[in-house]
Order: sequence, then structure tokens, then C-alpha cells
Amino acid sequence: MPTTHHPLGIDIGGSGIKGAPVDMARGQFARDRLRFETPRISTPDAVAEVVARIAAHFADDTGDSPIGVTLPAVVTKGVVRTAANIDPAWVGTDVQKLLSDRLGRPVTVVNDADAAGVGELQFGAARNAGGLVLISTLGTGIGSALIYDGVLIPNSELGHLEIDGRDAESRAASSVRDDKNLSWPEWAERLQRYYSHVEDLLWPDLIVVGGGVSKKAEKFLPLLHLRAPIVAAQLQNSAGIIGAAWLASNA
Ligand code: BGC
Repeated sequence: MPTTHHPLGIDIGGSGIKGAPVDMARGQFARDRLRFETPRISTPDAVAEVVARIAAHFADDTGDSPIGVTLPAVVTKGVVRTAANIDPAWVGTDVQKLLSDRLGRPVTVVNDADAAGVGELQFGAARNAGGLVLISTLGTGIGSALIYDGVLIPNSELGHLEIDGRDAESRAASSVRDDKNLSWPEWAERLQRYYSHVEDLLWPDLIVVGGGVSKKAEKFLPLLHLRAPIVAAQLQNSAGIIGAAWLASNA
């Protein structure tokens, strides 16, 4: 039996639900991550079932410690408010209550990009960064986290800025690069338009780019010309789980 219990981070995404206990001293998974496919009909109850399986799997490592859960949606006071890339049944669900009743442990629910931003701030590319940091995740959609002097301003949703009459993520997300088979320079042009616009509105001191494609940052970040330094995330796909666990244990 481990003597130290770790908080558990769980990342609920469109294709997979992933979780791991997080060692808060190191900002790393304390055990290998466990992943399940997201149920085809991904209603709150179906997803809660999978979350409960992950929590049960790590029961010895996590004890009664808090659980941080991410969703690709606006979440205020534990309630889901939008569903751009998830089942519309989530809107209005008090996920914090659903999961804490189900698991009998304190649960903190946050937007996925906010969780990734906090992960990068605590343990990754934005460690100790002051001023305004924008963490931007490029995946199925575009997520954003705004952090000012270490304080998260939640639910910024900058992927949904309207640019040239279009929802920004429908032009510049990483999924669009895949679907339209864009070359790196073609995609970078779209990213340039997006980040220049965001930069003109918010003037961040640092931009951190996450999401799976950040593994290939060298292919597109050097093509972007912005005022602020723009760097790749360091925790990549673990950032959400690590940030969620951090937020849960500091709630
Ligand atoms: C959602 C955001 C989410 C982002 C990345 C967007 O479509 O509106 O809440 O953070 O996708 O998953």
C-alpha cells in the first residue's frame, strides 16, 4: 500500500477518456495512464460510468484524494454550459455533483484547455511566467486558457472568435489541417491570421501552443511571426490530466 495518496486527473475527450494519479511534487504521472474509448453515445451517465472505472482502477494510489476532471466545454460552478464538440445532453448537467455523488470524493470539473494551461503554468512551458500567458490547444477544436500573474481567467473560449466571418476553430484547428490535407505552410497561414488577431486584442506576454500536434511544433511554429514569444507546450497530452489534478488538490 502506498503511504502517499495522489490526486487523480481525468481527461474526458471526444475519442478517449484518460486518467492517472499525479505526483504533485514532480508534476508527473505517478502511475501509467489508463485510457478507455469514449462511449459512442457519450451522455453524462455513460461517461460517468467510465470515470468510475478509472477511479476504481487507481483506488490504492489515490485513496480519498480529490479528482480533477476536464471536459471540452465551458464549465461554470461545475455545470456544463456549451457543447461544441460533445453530446448536447451535457449542457446544463451539474457534472461536479453527478461525479462527486457517484464517486463519494471531492470532484473539480474544468474546461480542458484551462486544465492544460494550469498544467503548463505549474510544471511546463509557462512555469513561473508572469504577466498574461495564453495557452492555446490545437486539436479537434481550438481551446484557450488565459492566465494573468498565475491566476486563471476561466472559460476564455478564444477558439470561437469570429474571424473573417467564420468561427476561428473551423478554419485553423488541427483537425482542419487533417481533414483538408493542408501542408504545414498552408496551415501556418491560417494560424498566423488567428494568432495575430488574438494578439491584437489581448497582447499576451507569452503564447504556449499545446494539443497533440505540438509534438510537431518545429514544422509550424517557426513559420509564425508574432510580437510575443510563441513556444510549444512541454507536457503535451498529459497537461490536462496534470492541471486538473493540480486544480482539484488546490480547490
Ligand atoms: C470548446 C472549448 C474547448 C476546445 C478544445 C472548443 O470547441 O468550445 O471549450 O476547450 O474546443 O477542446
